[in-house]
Amino acid sequence: MARSATVFVCSACAHEAPKWHGRCPGCGEWESLVEEERGEAGGGSGQGTARRGTTKALRPVPLREVEAPAVARLATGIGELDRVLGGGLVPGSLVLIGGPPGIGKSTLTSSALGNLAAKGASTLYVSGEESAAQVKLRAERLGAAALEVPIVAETDLDAVVATLEAERPEVCVIDSVQTLYASGLSGSPGAVGQVREVSGRLLRLAKRTGTAVLLVGHVTKEGALAGPRVLEHLVDCVLSFEGERERTYRTLRALKNRFGSTNEAGVFEMGDGGLTEVEDASAKFLAETTGAAGSVVLCAMEGSRPLLVEVQALVSPTELVPPRRVASGIDRNRLALVLAVLARHCGVSLSGSDVFVSAAGGVRVTEPGADLALALALTSAARGEPLGAEGRPLGAFGEVGLTGELRHSPHPGRRLAEARKFGLEPVLCPGDRLGDLPAALRGAFGAGGKRSARAA
Ligand code: TYD
Ligand code: MG
Repeated sequence: MARSATVFVCSACAHEAPKWHGRCPGCGEWESLVEEERGEAGGGSGQGTARRGTTKALRPVPLREVEAPAVARLATGIGELDRVLGGGLVPGSLVLIGGPPGIGKSTLTSSALGNLAAKGASTLYVSGEESAAQVKLRAERLGAAALEVPIVAETDLDAVVATLEAERPEVCVIDSVQTLYASGLSGSPGAVGQVREVSGRLLRLAKRTGTAVLLVGHVTKEGALAGPRVLEHLVDCVLSFEGERERTYRTLRALKNRFGSTNEAGVFEMGDGGLTEVEDASAKFLAETTGAAGSVVLCAMEGSRPLLVEVQALVSPTELVPPRRVASGIDRNRLALVLAVLARHCGVSLSGSDVFVSAAGGVRVTEPGADLALALALTSAARGEPLGAEGRPLGAFGEVGLTGELRHSPHPGRRLAEARKFGLEPVLCPGDRLGDLPAALRGAFGAGGKRSARAA
């Protein structure tokens, strides 16, 4: 019997089956089997079998002797993007930029290509989502350079690959990976098997031709990059573009980077002329603080860069059971933990109140170092007592442990230096002798006493 051209591969455990199952026979995961071309796609195994007898063994080479020519990176001219990439695009690399619709992925990639084109690099924009005319309208807002970028509006993978082979651009944007389809597969564009096949083909092309490929990807409602996790394994670099569409500030983070650190983040602001880099984000955020009850400035770290972010809390009595816990830009689990520690160790029980917390400006803070600022903002909101002195907000950072102790957060020096730079003093943080949260609250709200700059 002739072998069928496709197999069904589990996106969880990579088990291969000749026909579709609702549940993977390999790992028991439901609805995880996706159709793929046999042998062609990443995990293909069919080809090797016939040649096994004749294949020659390879000679392992000591790493010292491996030739690794230094490659010049392609700077996109967008400082924040280059920094997150680890110093620009690496030729032949595959970079995935994920983010929710409307966040600015097309804007960012168009600007980057425009800058590269202006510097004389050959570029290509492949739009599967918008017509060439729509992309042009956007480019007009971004300036003259963006209009120099050649474009094809195409969704057929074969046509795109053929164009890339013929044009051999140095940098190419695929907007988006979910709109391309491989004709050999049955799934609709965006289906797991399709995304995997499309990315696999583009990856091989990038490595072969040296074209740096920027894949734009959508994220699902849950915030995961749509398509299989496999996609994240495949690419060299995964960037996540986050923020809320309604707010002006957006952050670009590296979730994975084979050529640089994942500790970097860039801050952007969406305006009339596209995205602009926000280099002095701390100053902008600080200028908007109120210093009112429930407001504390968190000395946060965005990657390796310190950032001052206002954390706000609102506590309001409620009849609701359970009461509302609404967090925007702040990790819900950290909020739950801080509320529990406040109730258990500090006598601040908010079980009869709705609690709203947010990180101002649309920033997302997930680090445990935000705990102390959160606890202070909540207590200040509950008591109705502002924490700052003379209209200036109080700064804070530090992690709160389950027993109410304060724990060190990384880079205290950089955080304090940033606070000092913007005249934010005092700053409450875990001291040399680590204190605990009750002591920190006493220090902050001390009955008329002078506040100590250190919690311990
Ligand atoms: P877009 O880059 O198309 O987002 P994505 O590709 O991630 O879906 O654009 C995001 C939004 O930004 C869009 O709703 C329009 C807005 N925008 C501006 O406010 N100013 C501009 O100069 C541009 C180009 C877009
Ligand atoms: Mg878009």
